[in-house]
Amino acid sequence: MLQMLQKAGNFMNIAIITGASSGIGAEFALQFDNILKSVDEFWLIARRKDRLDELSEKLNHKTRVITMDLTDAMEREELKELLRRENPVVRVLVNCAGYGIMGKFSEMELKEQTGMLDLNCMALTEVTYLCIPYMRRKSRIIQLASSAAFLPQPGFAVYAATKAYVLSFSRALREELRPREIIVTAVCPGPVRTEFFDTAERYGKTLAIKKLTFVNADKVVREAIEAAGKRKAMSVCSPWIRLFWFFTKVLPHGFLLKIVGLLK
Ligand SMILES: NC(=O)c1ccc[n+]([C@@H]2O[C@H](COP(=O)([O-])OP(=O)(O)OC[C@H]3O[C@@H](n4cnc5c(N)ncnc54)[C@H](OP(=O)(O)O)[C@@H]3O)[C@@H](O)[C@H]2O)c1
Repeated sequence: MLQMLQKAGNFMNIAIITGASSGIGAEFALQFDNILKSVDEFWLIARRKDRLDELSEKLNHKTRVITMDLTDAMEREELKELLRRENPVVRVLVNCAGYGIMGKFSEMELKEQTGMLDLNCMALTEVTYLCIPYMRRKSRIIQLASSAAFLPQPGFAVYAATKAYVLSFSRALREELRPREIIVTAVCPGPVRTEFFDTAERYGKTLAIKKLTFVNADKVVREAIEAAGKRKAMSVCSPWIRLFWFFTKVLPHGFLLKIVGLLK
């Protein structure tokens, strides 16, 4: 019956944003609020309910606050069940939930490192998988990768590897979904001023040269939405990061890693 209603056009259009309680995810919700006129409901996902409620009050769209630890497989099952029950059309999925911790791999807690794999890779992959059956022509998937995806990063090794996964996965998925006209865009910013660094700098410090390239979340999101609108594969915010991306394409990574080592 629900499928019949979908076919008749009598269905709920939604946008799902993970990691919506702060930083880039919250900014996506705020900017999409002014743009996604045909979306009926925003589903906002993160662990901190108070922050999601606060965001929800700022939005004109109807929202559903989904308090969930995405690293918990049982809690991800709840999302699967919710999608099954509501049978919406997912017009937009933004996978923003993610964290990174700087420091030497062998000197940090293992759980903190594998946690990055659980959230940045496993949860992102599963949420994407769960949403695709509910997508239609012109649905958008926006995946938060990072410029850390472009080059291995000693001192940020696991995080950079998770983001290389996100970028590679997103580009391949984009090709797979092309026949269905579902657009996948990977967002690859350099450092962005958010709470990300409260966690990231627990053991290590951001390289001085990176600090020169900081941008604000609103710019990253504006450019990401524009890139997704233009059906682009990637959004690389700021000229410095575009230059970095170019170097990682044309120069041997071993050479670049030596230069990065000298900058420390
Ligand atoms: N900031 C940067 O410099 C930068 C640069 C490139 C890429 N990125 C990427 O951009 C994305 C967003 O980062 P941000 O800068 O906006 O950082 P942020 O402000 O720290 O936001 C991270 C979001 O992830 C959510 N989250 C963390 N653990 C979670 C869990 N277990 N389950 C559900 N949600 C969880 C957080 O909410 P709760 O704590 O409420 O759960 C929060 O909403 C991340 O994937 C990050 O890797 C960031």
